[in-house]
Amino acid sequence: MNSDAIEISGNDFRYSALVGHGLMARAGELARNVVSGNRCAIVADEISAGLFGDRVCKSFSSENFLPRLIRIPAGEKSKSFAQVEKICEQMIAAELDRSSFVVGLGGGVIGDISGFVAAIFQRGIPHIQIPTTLLAMVDSSIGGKTGVNLEAGKNLIGAFHHPSLVIIDVDALETLSARELRKGYAEIIKHAIIRDAEMFQMLSSRAKMPVRLGLEGSRCATLKLSWRDSSTVARDDGFVSLIRRNIAIKARIVSADAREISGERALLNFGHTVGHAIERATDFKIPHGDCISIGMVAACAISMKRGGFSSQERDDVVSLLKQFELPTQLPAEVDRERIAATVAPDKKFLGGKIRFVVTPRIGQAHVSNDVTMEDIREAIAAL
Ligand SMILES: NC(=O)c1ccc[n+]([C@@H]2O[C@H](COP(=O)([O-])OP(=O)(O)OC[C@H]3O[C@@H](n4cnc5c(N)ncnc54)[C@H](O)[C@@H]3O)[C@@H](O)[C@H]2O)c1
Ligand SMILES: [Zn+2]
Repeated sequence: MNSDAIEISGNDFRYSALVGHGLMARAGELARNVVSGNRCAIVADEISAGLFGDRVCKSFSSENFLPRLIRIPAGEKSKSFAQVEKICEQMIAAELDRSSFVVGLGGGVIGDISGFVAAIFQRGIPHIQIPTTLLAMVDSSIGGKTGVNLEAGKNLIGAFHHPSLVIIDVDALETLSARELRKGYAEIIKHAIIRDAEMFQMLSSRAKMPVRLGLEGSRCATLKLSWRDSSTVARDDGFVSLIRRNIAIKARIVSADAREISGERALLNFGHTVGHAIERATDFKIPHGDCISIGMVAACAISMKRGGFSSQERDDVVSLLKQFELPTQLPAEVDRERIAATVAPDKKFLGGKIRFVVTPRIGQAHVSNDVTMEDIREAIAAL
């Protein structure tokens, strides 16, 4: 479809992620290649709808689609069954049917709930992702995990429903806050640790710019990462390559293990076992990226004990996280014991057995069965 498309494929799915500038205005034309029906719901939150709703609706209308913009409140609370029902009712009222499709226009919350709606509406219709946060671009829009939260926990209800197309318009980042950018960087650093030592080096030497950034040896661009300034980031070719490189990492992992069976996809949980426990134990008051950053520091300590990870590399990870202004220690007032107690019910502890992602060296990771609850408690106490 496009020479710059990144393919994501598995036994029963194949789709492209397109990354570039000005793609929202071309969304309708790009969608024409993958969907046949005309009616579509464009699901957005009030912020993404305000920023991009008109542009995307116009683009679909100009290709003779019949788009209906459906707005929901911004924030994690919207990832609920109640919102799913409201969206579906508006879709029925707009006469969408089995031949229609859903477009998710927003961050990970919108991607997850709109994907879930697409998975269940009339037993499943196509989904197109237009992610507008850095986290959604490099992580949540790829891989087909959709769902909503319950009172009992996050992402407890869901379905695998891969999108038919992912349209990543980096111009969307112009309006993103530094806080939201940081969430994306935490996942980018995670990708570097588990899969890409070269990207880790490239990010680490960011201060000594310019650095040559290559995507699988083919594309090269200079990365001038004035990362706090989202408008600079959005216009930086090196940054576009960075996004592509991260999508390619997630795409390879998802293609190898779409349903998290062989263990490959579980590697994406690096830093997340302790990170999720921090989120839960602090009632989700600390942003996800910050929790994952601290969780990755704990995972490095555990990797030193159980995976042969060196203290030098642990220090390199800590200093990279700090460069991106991500926290590497827990706030003093947080109860370490409470976090350790919250780790246990995590879904990575299947059948009472602890499966913990460790890194033996930067660029590599595997699931270890040797990590004990005591190791985890010790690492949390040291944070
Ligand atoms: N499906 C997956 O594989 C997967 C992976 C990781 C995370 N997730 C999910 O993703 C969600 C988090 O995603 P998120 O961090 O994108 O949160 P989000 O969707 O809540 O977006 C964060 C905030 O940024 C705003 N926003 C979106 N685009 C903007 C833009 N371009 N400019 C300015 N503001 C903008 C949103 O309105 C929101 O207020 C969580 O629910 C998490 O469970 C899913
Ligand atoms: Zn995460």
